[in-house]
Amino acid sequence: MPMKIKNLTIHGKTFLAPLAGITNLPFRLLVKECGCAVVCSEMVSAKGIFYNSEKTLDLLSSKKEEQPLSVQLFGSDTESMVKGAKFVETLNTASIIDINFGCSVKKIVKQGAGVALMKEPDITKSLLAAVRKATDLPLTIKIRSGWDNSGQQAFKIAQIAQDSGVDAITIHPRTASQGFKGKANWEIIKTLKQQLSIPVIGNGDINSVEDAQRMIELTACDAVMVGRAAMKNPFLLSQIDDFIRNGSYQTPTPHDIFRKMESLTKRYVEYFGEKPACKMLRGRLSWFVKGMPGCSAFRANLSKVISKNDALDLIKEFEASLM
Ligand SMILES: Cc1cc2nc3c(=O)[nH]c(=O)nc-3n(C[C@H](O)[C@H](O)[C@H](O)COP(=O)(O)O)c2cc1C
Repeated sequence: MPMKIKNLTIHGKTFLAPLAGITNLPFRLLVKECGCAVVCSEMVSAKGIFYNSEKTLDLLSSKKEEQPLSVQLFGSDTESMVKGAKFVETLNTASIIDINFGCSVKKIVKQGAGVALMKEPDITKSLLAAVRKATDLPLTIKIRSGWDNSGQQAFKIAQIAQDSGVDAITIHPRTASQGFKGKANWEIIKTLKQQLSIPVIGNGDINSVEDAQRMIELTACDAVMVGRAAMKNPFLLSQIDDFIRNGSYQTPTPHDIFRKMESLTKRYVEYFGEKPACKMLRGRLSWFVKGMPGCSAFRANLSKVISKNDALDLIKEFEASLM
């Protein structure tokens, strides 16, 4: 039986994690093209929507090829979160609205948003009730384990969310102070799954198909969300879905990888403009070639790239050097 989030049927068990600065439209399209059930936007400031910030509104750009898209909002103030959710719904591009309960960056926590909300059951209750009332779209939240490793805050916030009409919960079981260090505590995902009747999406430390399989076996989560590993291997989510469906998956060839690097380059240039795209591509393209012979020289040459053609030529040269 396919998983459902409210009335939305999810074809597959893989979610691309929201990654600020990374899961922009060109990157989401790349991952979707490789194969993935749901892609998530970068976190979007509800206040930014409220104040019509051009930079914020840009983050909401979407194309129909990436559907279904989950748009993640962050904020703590009910009025702007309600306005944000309503605005996102009017764009007709999001299939899911997600609320960030996990960001531990100081600037966000200071505003009472992200993981700060996990300390505030009363605010959470009223915020979720108001957003639930404001939108008919499937509504999800993404939480951490909380401020300590017991998971108690996660269990409490998740229960409030389910009781408020939230349709699914993603959990990244690290504490606020852990950031991305140490290990994600998958036992917390397992307990949460036993507690809730709505779908639970497990996240944290999935670096391979086998990791995803282990997480599903251990926790019985309904789907998995992959973040950092997708930055290096955008094929990973489709490999996970293939393995779940057929018991096998294919490893991308260097040819497959280089074609994706070319298509990301073209999309970045089209979306961000040549100069900013080239700057951003220096980091992005080097992730894909990690571990290949000669990758450090490729990385060094990438730092000199100033045009789309420079980047495409460099990719071709590097590919030829591997033959
Ligand atoms: C660069 C970066 C940006 C992130 N941005 C967001 C974000 O905007 N919203 C969010 O909920 N989580 C964000 N996260 C957390 C990821 O979504 C995910 O929970 C975390 O990386 C653990 O999953 P992973 O081990 O598969 O990477 C970010 C993580 C990284 C590394």
